[in-house]
Amino acid sequence: MADSTKDPNSVSNISGIITKHISIEWNVNFKEKVFTGDVKLTLETLQDGVANLILDTSCSLCISDVSDDATGEKLTFEVKEPLGALGSPLNIRLPSSAQSKGSKLCIKISYKTSSSASAIGWLEPSQTAGKQFPYLYSQCQAIHARSILPCQDSPSVKATYEAKVTVPCDLVCLMSAVRTGEEPCAIDNSLKTYTFRQTVPMPSYLIAIVVGALESRQIGPRSRVWSEKEFVDRAAFEFSETEHMLATAESLLGPYVWGQYDLLILPPSFPYGGMENPCLTFVTPTLLAGDRSLANVVAHEISHSWTGNLVTNCSWEHFWLNEGFTVFVERKILGRMNSEKHRQFAFIGGWKELYNSVSKYGQEHKFTQLLPPLEGGIDPDDAFSSVPYEKGSCFLFYLETLVGINEFEGYLKAYIDKFKYRSLTTQDWKDFFLEYFHEKAAAGVFDCIEWDKWFFSPGMPPIKPKYDTCLVDHCTELCEKWSQVGESNFEKSSGDLESMSPSQKIEFLAQLLLKKPLNCNLIQEMQGIYDMDKYTNAEIRFRWLRLRIKAGDESAIDSALKMATEAGRMKFTRVLFRDLYAFPSARQKAIDTFLAERHNMHPITAKTVAKDLELE
Ligand code: BES
Ligand code: ZN
Repeated sequence: MADSTKDPNSVSNISGIITKHISIEWNVNFKEKVFTGDVKLTLETLQDGVANLILDTSCSLCISDVSDDATGEKLTFEVKEPLGALGSPLNIRLPSSAQSKGSKLCIKISYKTSSSASAIGWLEPSQTAGKQFPYLYSQCQAIHARSILPCQDSPSVKATYEAKVTVPCDLVCLMSAVRTGEEPCAIDNSLKTYTFRQTVPMPSYLIAIVVGALESRQIGPRSRVWSEKEFVDRAAFEFSETEHMLATAESLLGPYVWGQYDLLILPPSFPYGGMENPCLTFVTPTLLAGDRSLANVVAHEISHSWTGNLVTNCSWEHFWLNEGFTVFVERKILGRMNSEKHRQFAFIGGWKELYNSVSKYGQEHKFTQLLPPLEGGIDPDDAFSSVPYEKGSCFLFYLETLVGINEFEGYLKAYIDKFKYRSLTTQDWKDFFLEYFHEKAAAGVFDCIEWDKWFFSPGMPPIKPKYDTCLVDHCTELCEKWSQVGESNFEKSSGDLESMSPSQKIEFLAQLLLKKPLNCNLIQEMQGIYDMDKYTNAEIRFRWLRLRIKAGDESAIDSALKMATEAGRMKFTRVLFRDLYAFPSARQKAIDTFLAERHNMHPITAKTVAKDLELE
C-alpha cells in the first residue's frame, strides 16, 4: 500500500524537503482579478544532497523573483511545462548550505496570479446580493492552492501560516485563520490591510480567503456567522445549533484546537455544500431552508476540525480517511443530538447515495474503489463522488457492529489522539485499528473482514450492514404506493407526506427516483395532492425537479435550468444539467444555457459541467 511521502497529485519533492511555515503577502486587485505579492516558505531539508526544491504551481502563476530570505541572494529557478491538471513544476536551485539533512531555509518568491486561477471565484457587484461591491472567494481543495501560491500542494505536508492581505477599504477580508489585525494601508488610504495567523499546522488545501461586503453576528461563545448583510439574520437562525454541535463533537473526539469556529455563507455560485476551512467553514446559501433541516452539513464541517484538518489523508487516494470518517462523526453527532434512530436513518440514505454513484460510474469503475488509483495525472475533481463518503462511513459502521458502539467511541478518541497534527495512509489507519483492538483481533473478531475487498474492489461494499428502518418505513410505504398506481388515480390517505420531517420527504423522493420513472399524469397528480412546488428546501426541490424531468415533463425544463444556474452547488447543478442533457427535448437548451452562463460560474463548476455535457 501507498507510502506517505508519495503523492500522485503533487510534483513536489516532499520526501527530500518540507515546508514548516508559510508567510503570505497579497495585494488583491479586483480590476485585473489577480493577486500580486510574495510568499515566504520556511523549509526543512530531510535528506542529504537535495539540490532542488520543486513546488507546485498552476494556471500560469507568474513568478518574477526567488531569493534566500536570510541573505537576499537570488536563487536560480525555472517554471517547467504544465503537466495537465497537476500544473507546472517550479524548480528552485537550493543554496548549498540548505542541501543537507536538518538544514533550514526561508525562500521568498515574488509573483502574480492569473485571472483564471482555478481556486478563485471572482464576482461582479451584479452577482452579489448587495449589488454594490465585488466579491471573491477561494476553494483550494483538492489541488487548487497551487493556482494562488507556489507551494508543496500535498495534504501530507503541514505548515502553520500567517498572512497580510491588502484590499479595497470598504471590503472585509477573512481567511482560514485567526484575525490578528486590520489597519488602513499606509501608502494608499483607499485600501485596508488585514493580518491573520494560523498556529496549528495544516495542509495547503485548507488555505482560504474571502473578500466582500461582509457583516457578522455572534451565534455562540466561539462562533460568528459571516455573510452579506442580506443573509446574516437568516443564517444566525439556521445555524443556531453550532455551539451544541461543537460541544458534542468535543465530547466525542477531544478538545477543539482551532480557537474560533465561524461560518461564512457564500454567494450562490459556491460549488460545494460546505468546506471545512479552519476557523471559518464556508457553506452554500442553499442550506438556508428556514427550518434548520440542512444543518447536518454544518455538523459535517465541524467534524472535519478533527477528521481531515487535525488528522489528514496523506494523499487524495486516501480521501476516505477524511470524508468517510467525517460522515461517520457527523452521524454520531446527529445520533447524540436526536436519537440513534436518526443516525440509522442517515446511513440508510447514505447507502442509496452510494448505490447511485456506483450505478452512474458502473460496477467495475476504479473510482468506485474505496482507494481509487490517482496516478497518471488524474484530476481529483474528476474522481469526486459519494464513494469515499459512503463506502468509507459504511465500512466504519460495519467495524462498529463488530466491536460494539461504546468500544468504537473509545477507539475514535484514541485514533484522533494518535494521529493529530499528522497525515496518514490507509495502512497506518489499519495498523492502528488492529493495535488498538489487539485482544479482539487475537480472538478472531476480525477474521470475517475482507480488508482487500473493502479497499480495492470496485462496486458496492462486500457487506450491507443491517440498519434500523423504523424512520424510513413510512417513506418506503408511500413510495411503494406511488410506484404501484398504474396510469393515475392515487388514493390519498390523509396527511401522508405532510406529516413527514424534511429528511423523510427527501428520503421518499430519493426512493421514488430509484423506481421506474412516473408518468406526467402522476406527476401532476402528486403536485395536486401535495403542492410539491411550494417547497423551497433545496434538497426537496432538487429531487422533485429530477422526478419531473425523468417523467418527461417538459414544463419542468425551465425550472430545472433555473435551479441549475442560479445556484452553483455542484451536487445540484451537475446532476440537473446531466438529467437535462439526457432528456432529448431539453438537451440543446441545456447546452445553450450552460454556454451563456458559464462565465458567471465558478471555474471548477464550469470545467466540470463542460466535461459532463461533453463540451470538453
Ligand atoms: N471537503 C468537502 C468538500 C470538498 C471535497 C471540496 C473535495 C473539494 C474537494 C466538504 O467537507 C464536504 O464533504 N462537503 C459536502 C457536505 C456533505 C457531505 C454534508 C458537500 O459539499 O456536499
Ligand atoms: Zn467533508
